[in-house]
Amino acid sequence: MKVWSPEFLLPKKLMKKVFLFLVVLAYVIPGRFVIGGSPEKGLQVLLEKAYLPADLDQEVFDALWTVWPEPLKSQAEQASVAGRRQMAMKRYGLLPHPSDPSRSVQYVVDSSGNWTMSCLACHQGQVAGEMVPGIPNTNYALETFTEEVRLVKISQGKSFGHMDVGSLLLPLGTTSGTTNAVMFGVALMHHRDAALNIISRAPRFDLIHHDMDAPPWWHYRKRNTLYADGFAPQGSRMLMQFLLVRENGPEKFLEWEPDFEHVEAWLESLKPPEWRWSVNKDLASNGEVVFREHCGRCHGSYGESDEYPEAVIPIDEIGTDRVRFDALTNVERNALNESWFGHFGRDAASIGDRQRPEGYVAPPLDGVWASAPYFHNGSVPTLWHVLHPENRPPVWCRTPVGYDTKKVGLEVEEPSQKEFAAAVSEGMPSAQRRQFFDTTKPGKSAGGHTFPEALNESERTAVLEYLKTL
Ligand code: HEC
Ligand code: HEC
Repeated sequence: MKVWSPEFLLPKKLMKKVFLFLVVLAYVIPGRFVIGGSPEKGLQVLLEKAYLPADLDQEVFDALWTVWPEPLKSQAEQASVAGRRQMAMKRYGLLPHPSDPSRSVQYVVDSSGNWTMSCLACHQGQVAGEMVPGIPNTNYALETFTEEVRLVKISQGKSFGHMDVGSLLLPLGTTSGTTNAVMFGVALMHHRDAALNIISRAPRFDLIHHDMDAPPWWHYRKRNTLYADGFAPQGSRMLMQFLLVRENGPEKFLEWEPDFEHVEAWLESLKPPEWRWSVNKDLASNGEVVFREHCGRCHGSYGESDEYPEAVIPIDEIGTDRVRFDALTNVERNALNESWFGHFGRDAASIGDRQRPEGYVAPPLDGVWASAPYFHNGSVPTLWHVLHPENRPPVWCRTPVGYDTKKVGLEVEEPSQKEFAAAVSEGMPSAQRRQFFDTTKPGKSAGGHTFPEALNESERTAVLEYLKTL
């Protein structure tokens, strides 16, 4: 018997019994901690498996430049095929796939060159030009991409896909980097019963469309609920709502459920990235003291005494934009929790009154330096602006990958409202207009969360330094 063999610890017969016992345990005790998915498999299906009908093919992607405005079109005409693909990815906020830079990490491309949107379209982006697992894609120009794909399909005589048609019925995202994803979900769920059978109903025209900034996936391990208002319990089924297109009947959801146990394991495994530049340690520790006094009751504590309350703050007290809160009613929240996605109400029992929230959840602030822009609607470009409510820009436009290490967040230009309005009235093309975040539009207010006003300037500077270390 070799010393490193497990038999060294337990006799062979007993080993077998212990093993069988563990296998039985894994199947009898429900819950993700016992059976558990595999994070690697989760990442693999996100990158390689298409769950929706394809959005476009390679021929369409490679012809997108033909519908671009000048001078971009002429520049593309002169470029190589590879160069044009890079230009296209940049225009639509896509990132090259690490193992094949000719395609994007956010779309699954099959061997025939069909491109299918994946979860990573909205949930995999970059900070300061570097891809970090679980960071939201705050460059995604979904509306512009879909519009231009449609134009190319018309010129190539190809039929429309579900996004091409869907975007004629509801807005996809009026500001690049944010999407109307919550309302896509409501619109799709309207055509299903609780068991996800497709039911035919007249479409809803009363939806309150609004854009959201997807949160970083590394929050998953800390939270028990999902979303800005925390009304839904976590669980692998809940992660599958994005697959509700007509082509996917209830049997597909059952078939794919194990994949999403792996996806959930991937989400659970993600850790926030560390601040890459220098930190003034003394200043940060002063900031920690201020943070504990003014912020900790809602946002928790970090470091050794890690604690996260997942507090829900009533909408009038938090005062940030309330459209997201009003757009989803308790009828819709309930319908989701009582459906297959929530095991017909079973999962929500564990979150009690949180199913009917009164406001927004104070999110965990781990890795917060990397997840700009801020608030659920992505209306505030830097942490400095979060800490200076009076100086938040009414209109801003980010540079594609610029990072502001002083203000901690997106590098932005801040045109005055007047300049922006003049440029729009002079006919700024819609693709360009979507690059500007206009906080005067419905659902896009950068107001509220005025708690930092209780801090003097040096306290705010210290808290800003501390936030870099989380
Ligand atoms: C079109 C963009 C888009 C796509 C595609 C998308 N999501 Fe999201 N996701 C969002 C937005 C926006 C939110 C925030 C919604 C809210 O808080 O109300 C979100 C929230 C989440 C959350 C909750 C995170 C938290 O901390 O509250 C999880 C988990 C998640 N998505 C997983 C997925 C998975 C898995 C897929 C693929 C099956 C997917 N998403 C596809 C945009 C998207
Ligand atoms: C009464 C509870 C409460 C207090 C006190 C509070 N916050 Fe918040 N905070 C929230 C809520 C709720 C949100 C989410 C608002 C939204 O998305 O609309 C939030 C959002 C944030 C965000 C944006 C996070 C993101 O990922 O978008 C930052 C940063 C932040 N708070 C920092 C602070 C700091 C620093 C303090 C102390 C000076 C503080 N907060 C005090 C409740 C609070």
